[in-house]
Amino acid sequence: MKRTTRVGLVTSGGDCQGLNAAIRGVGKALFNRLDNNVEIYGMFDGYRGLIERDYKFMERKDFSGILTEGGTILGTSRQRYVPGKDIVDDDGNSVIPKMLNTYNRLNLDCLVVMGGNGTQKSAKLLMDAGMNVVTLPKTIDNDIWGTDTTFGFQSAVNIATNVIDYLHTTACSHGRIFVVELMGRDAGWLTLNAGIGSGADVILIPEIPYNLEKVAEMLIKRRKYGSGFSIIACAEGAVSVDDVKLDEEESRRRRENSKHSTVSYYIAAELEKLTGQDTRVTVPGHYQRGGPPCPFDRVLATRFGTAAADLIVNQQYGRMVAIQQGEIVSIPLADAASRTKFLPVDHPMIQVARDVGICMGD
Ligand code: F6P
Repeated sequence: MKRTTRVGLVTSGGDCQGLNAAIRGVGKALFNRLDNNVEIYGMFDGYRGLIERDYKFMERKDFSGILTEGGTILGTSRQRYVPGKDIVDDDGNSVIPKMLNTYNRLNLDCLVVMGGNGTQKSAKLLMDAGMNVVTLPKTIDNDIWGTDTTFGFQSAVNIATNVIDYLHTTACSHGRIFVVELMGRDAGWLTLNAGIGSGADVILIPEIPYNLEKVAEMLIKRRKYGSGFSIIACAEGAVSVDDVKLDEEESRRRRENSKHSTVSYYIAAELEKLTGQDTRVTVPGHYQRGGPPCPFDRVLATRFGTAAADLIVNQQYGRMVAIQQGEIVSIPLADAASRTKFLPVDHPMIQVARDVGICMGD
C-alpha cells in the first residue's frame, strides 16, 4: 500500500491577491500527483493555527471554486519575529516549540508556507527547528529576494494604476496637485510600476530619498508650461534626504512628533507652501490588497502552487519556489530569507521613468 503524504498549509503575514489560487494549485496538484495518497491540513490564521493547533482537514472539494477569490480561505495573521532568532508571543516567549508540537502530532511530512519577506524569514526558523518547509513568495511589495516577481504584486499594480487614472480627471478639473500614497514600506516596486503605468509626474520611493525643493521646482515649471495639475505617486516608505540620515530611534521619534499621519500628508503640506497650488492627498491603503487576483497572478500563483507540490513529491524541502526570467525554479529558503529585494537605483525602469520626464524626487 502506498504511504500517505501529510502536508500542512499556512498563509501568513499581510494577505494579497492570489493566495487562494496558490492554495488551490498546491492542493489539486498534490491530489493528482500522489493519486489521492495525501492528507492536507489547512492552518487557520497563519502561524496562529500552527501554534494553537487550530486547523481543518481539507478535502479535494475544498480546493475547488477558489481560484478567483481574493484574500485567503484559511485566514492569516502576523507574529512577532525576533530577527534571525525567534518567533515569540506577546510575553516574549518562543512559540516555535508549540509549532513543532503541532507538526509532530499531525505527523506532517512538510509545511507549505505562503508569505512575504517576514514570513520567509520565520519559515527559515521553522526549518532550523527541524520541520520540512517549502515556501511560496507572495506580497504586493515584490520585495522577496531570489524571485523576479511575487503573486499579488501585479494585481496591486493594476489597482494602484487605476486609482491614479481616476484621480487624473479630478486633478485636471481643479488644477490641483495630488499626492497618492501607495503601499511599500521598504521597497518602491509597486509605486514605480503604478507611477509609470498611470503617467504620474513625480514618483517617490524609499530607495531614492527626495528633496521637496527639487520636486516643487519641477511642479512650478510644469504649471508654467501649461500643465495645470500634477500627480505624485509616493510610496508609504518614501523618505527625505534629511530624514534618511536619522537612525531608527530618531526616525521613530520624528514620526511620533509629526502632526501629519503619514508621509504623503507631510509632502502635500510642504508642496502646497512651496508651489502655492491647491494640493490633496489620496491613500488607497489596503484597497490595493483587496479583491480578486488579476489573470497574471492567477496563473503565477497556480504555477507556484503546482511547483510546491512537485518539491514535496520529490522530497526537496527547505526551498522557496521562485520565478526567474520566466522559468519556475526553486532556491534555498536560507538565501531567500537572508535579504530584501530593494529596487536598485540603477534599475532600467528608473531610467525609463526619467526618460519620459518623471521626476524621481532627486
Ligand atoms: O507587506 C505588505 C503590506 O501591504 C505593506 O505594503 C504594508 O506596509 C503592510 O503590508 C501593511 O500591513 P498591515 O496589513 O499589517 O496594515
